[in-house]
Amino acid sequence: MSTNNADNASQKRFIQKCIEPDCQSTFGLDEPMYVCRRCGGLLDIECSSRSTIDPDTLKLWWHQRLSSQLPQDRSGVWRFRESIPFPDDTEVVTLKEGNTPLYTARHSANYCRLDALLLKHQGLNPTGSFKDTGMTVAVTQAKSLRSTMAVCASTGNTAASLAAYAGRADLPCAILVPADQVSHAKLAQALDYGARVLEIEGNFDACMQLVLELANEEPIYLVNSINPFRIEGQKTVAIELAEQLNWRVPDHLVVPGGNLGNSSAFGKGFRELLDWGLIDLYPRITVVQAEGAAPFARYFAQQRTGNVQFANEEEPETLASAIKIGAPVSWKKALRSVNESGGQVITVSEQEIADAKAIIGRDGIGCEPASATTVAGIRKLVASGFIRNDSSVVALLTGHVLKDTEYVIGYHNQSLRTERDEQITARFGNKPMRVASSRQSLKDALDRVRNESLQ
Ligand code: F0G
Repeated sequence: MSTNNADNASQKRFIQKCIEPDCQSTFGLDEPMYVCRRCGGLLDIECSSRSTIDPDTLKLWWHQRLSSQLPQDRSGVWRFRESIPFPDDTEVVTLKEGNTPLYTARHSANYCRLDALLLKHQGLNPTGSFKDTGMTVAVTQAKSLRSTMAVCASTGNTAASLAAYAGRADLPCAILVPADQVSHAKLAQALDYGARVLEIEGNFDACMQLVLELANEEPIYLVNSINPFRIEGQKTVAIELAEQLNWRVPDHLVVPGGNLGNSSAFGKGFRELLDWGLIDLYPRITVVQAEGAAPFARYFAQQRTGNVQFANEEEPETLASAIKIGAPVSWKKALRSVNESGGQVITVSEQEIADAKAIIGRDGIGCEPASATTVAGIRKLVASGFIRNDSSVVALLTGHVLKDTEYVIGYHNQSLRTERDEQITARFGNKPMRVASSRQSLKDALDRVRNESLQ
């Protein structure tokens, strides 16, 4: 049974609103734009009238939909459709995204010196990353606007996700990626799903800048996270997480930071849950960046000591290619999330990312390098006392372990080197064993394995 509610549909009155305090211009949802037409500020989608549905009814509907077979109910995004700016009868473009697991993780908790740690694995979405929760909404909006082509700039995961959803929607799409800087797995996905891939001779920031400039001139629909419809989808992960924790949010939520859409979306999600009376506390949202691609962390540290301008990182460097970003478009929204929640913005080194990734793997979970910044960051925050050993902590894993196998094999084979040609030490390395093709050699090898596991 679907729990659509006709009254609810008519109660939805959403607008786009500029986040700049001295602008706050508002626009209709059917106006295709990505930043405020008046001042260039970022846009939020806001509900212009307060919901009259009581929190317990919402919780019940959302829960009931888990046992429905309707596509819009099977999706972990559209299941929460009362929070999303579309009429309830919208024909949604979905791959049944969301509804991802929240895992306990003993090895990762020990590594961070925490009593317990939960990992929310967004890498288990249909295309293997968190992008799907936003893309289902952005591509649904592209269809509503009758767009003829969707476009994005990407370090790989947005590319794979757009390619898949555009394929579902029969919507032509073009994807800009930095040439030779995207993992093969992600590129393979985009090609397989039929997207036109444009390899730009520049880095991600150059790709982003180009599509932003062209988006206002060309008949294209931009689906990067600067598009507020992406954020509407991604914010439902906050709702799903709160539901999984029986509507008690954790003390800390730690997320990786690249273009900063995710941290922006979590802030919005928790803010709306508070407004609705579904939760009564805001978790501290902390963003972790890779040391070589950390303009937001630098700005966050400096703005505490005075009035400083946000400065891009001209030559971002990290092996966590998903977050190799020097000019994050959503930093103002992400700053709002961190400041409102009392979180932090910190950096971790390439070595710390690689080691944390191997530890997450030992929990039988695995993730891509960018995701491992979270566990590396939590270890530092526990050591510094910002997170207490007995705090409840959730780390967001953003991508699947198979997204970047070159990195994994490189680490375990002790051949992983940074872009500055520094060796990463495989502190938790796990090199394959070469064994001669004979019974005795195999018996010896198995004995060695047995002895190792007894130690
Ligand atoms: N983790 C993964 C696996 C990502 O792919 C990204 C971003 C991030 C973290 C950072 O998230 O941008 O919301 O702060 N990937 C984008 C892409 C940029 O094009 O796939 P963010």
